[in-house]
Amino acid sequence: MALQLGDLAPDFTAETTEGTISFHDWLGDRWGILFSHPKDFTPVCTTELGEVSRLKGEFEKRNAKVIGLSVDSLDSHERWVGDIADATGHALNFPLIADSDRKVSDLYGMIHPNASDTLTVRSVFVIAPDKKVKLTITYPASTGRNFEEILRVLESLQLTAGYSVATPVNWQEGEDVIIVPAVSDEDAKVKFPKGFRTVKPYLRYTPQPDL
Ligand code: BEZ
Repeated sequence: MALQLGDLAPDFTAETTEGTISFHDWLGDRWGILFSHPKDFTPVCTTELGEVSRLKGEFEKRNAKVIGLSVDSLDSHERWVGDIADATGHALNFPLIADSDRKVSDLYGMIHPNASDTLTVRSVFVIAPDKKVKLTITYPASTGRNFEEILRVLESLQLTAGYSVATPVNWQEGEDVIIVPAVSDEDAKVKFPKGFRTVKPYLRYTPQPDL
């Protein structure tokens, strides 16, 4: 069965462009973003890896580590790395798993046979420090992902893990958030001292509580 939210992210040992890693040990107590690429030396993947390299500092600021994967060999990855820097202006600065035996792709369900028997789809898994899967996204090979959106989602996941809030449509860091319906008005007055406004009894906004 496909990995679902709340499942333990499977552990594995794999060769990467930064040496052999044991996934859970490598994550330590940080958040993790594990994402797959269909193939080396492909145009969309090249742009994505440059973009994640550009954003790596933003993930680090949010206590998150990033790691990519494709089902090609380490030798192929190492030859491709130069192209990524040339084409995007950003040298690869995080590990890329060489999954030519598809061990990790199979563990995480990254190959969707009705899309392609051999290539991974563009999967994203966000993993919390407790190693539980908190978010999954799947894009087809033909559509590059928006990694600013992954950062936005990470901010929401981290905020909502710590407070009884949810984030509304198109929410961005710093904007008001929603008090979850399970919190009574009486408790909300204590939990959210900045106050709240009630649009409907079940829709109450409060300023982002951790700012
Ligand atoms: C790409 O990264 O450009 C790509 C990879 C596989 C299929 C289609 C596009």
